[in-house]
Amino acid sequence: MTRPRAGSPLPALISAATAELAAAGVPSPHFDAEELAAHVLGTERGQLALVHDVDHRASAAYRDAVGRRSAREPLQHITGRAHFRHLTLAVGPGVFVPRPETEVVVEAAIAASGGIAAPVVVDLGTGSGAIALSVAHEVPAARVYAVEADPAALAWAQHNCAGHRVELRQGDMSEAFRDLDGRVDVVVSNPPYIPVGASIRDPEVAEHDPPVALWSGPDGLDAVRVVEEVAARLLRPGGSVVVEHADLQGSSAPAVFSATGRWRDVADHRDLSWRDRFLTATRAANPADGTIGG
Ligand SMILES: C[S@@+](CC[C@H](N)C(=O)[O-])C[C@H]1O[C@@H](n2cnc3c(N)ncnc32)[C@H](O)[C@@H]1O
Repeated sequence: MTRPRAGSPLPALISAATAELAAAGVPSPHFDAEELAAHVLGTERGQLALVHDVDHRASAAYRDAVGRRSAREPLQHITGRAHFRHLTLAVGPGVFVPRPETEVVVEAAIAASGGIAAPVVVDLGTGSGAIALSVAHEVPAARVYAVEADPAALAWAQHNCAGHRVELRQGDMSEAFRDLDGRVDVVVSNPPYIPVGASIRDPEVAEHDPPVALWSGPDGLDAVRVVEEVAARLLRPGGSVVVEHADLQGSSAPAVFSATGRWRDVADHRDLSWRDRFLTATRAANPADGTIGG
């Protein structure tokens, strides 16, 4: 970035930063340049028009932040926060940055808990806590539980969930919540789903998201299979599961559920970019696998 003069006008700084970020291949250079400016100036992006000249210290901090982003450090690691639905979550190294496409997954989980007086909702692989906290925030009557295996991610979830109505546990989802077996209304998960050996284009993902949040066996569906098992154990008959998957898994991920005979109404859904993004299914009442009722 061209070294700005002390007292430089903010629009000039942002336009130089936008050019530098574009040259580095950052996908949304103007947005990121504005977000970083807002971060450095301690304001919000919508308020930047009220800022005129930027002093020497703030210019230097901005230069540093733009340099980090040009090196393809995630924007959210630099600002320390990620916006997700109605929440702002603390994020940084060691935790998966919540993605906009997961917002529709939460929408489906909230819809599935509709009409239940005090729905019990479980989030498997909670990362920053984005899904669990959103459900707790938007469904005040819900009793929300979340599990995370990775201690580094768990620390971020603990920080974000402090003071909120989410019961957070550390452990492997495959063994989680034995105390809730057959009593859960909605299971929701954004599990790892990238096939081992696939190449990841964006350095922000390849170099900064935790590997345990990404990779999931030869076809990318190992964790989805675990989610299917765990959801079948946790849900009451008639309960719902909502599972995010990769855009290329719009047939293969639902097939994991259809194959076991434990589910009805297995369906796949698209995100706001019209890409296959998540499946939903209803726990069948199946005497063959020990469930009762309907
Ligand atoms: C793709 S990230 C999603 C995080 C968060 N739910 C979100 O949507 O932003 C998957 C998360 O699952 C966690 N995870 C992976 N395998 C797990 C397992 N066996 N048990 C519990 N958590 C697991 C990872 O550590 C990671 O935080």
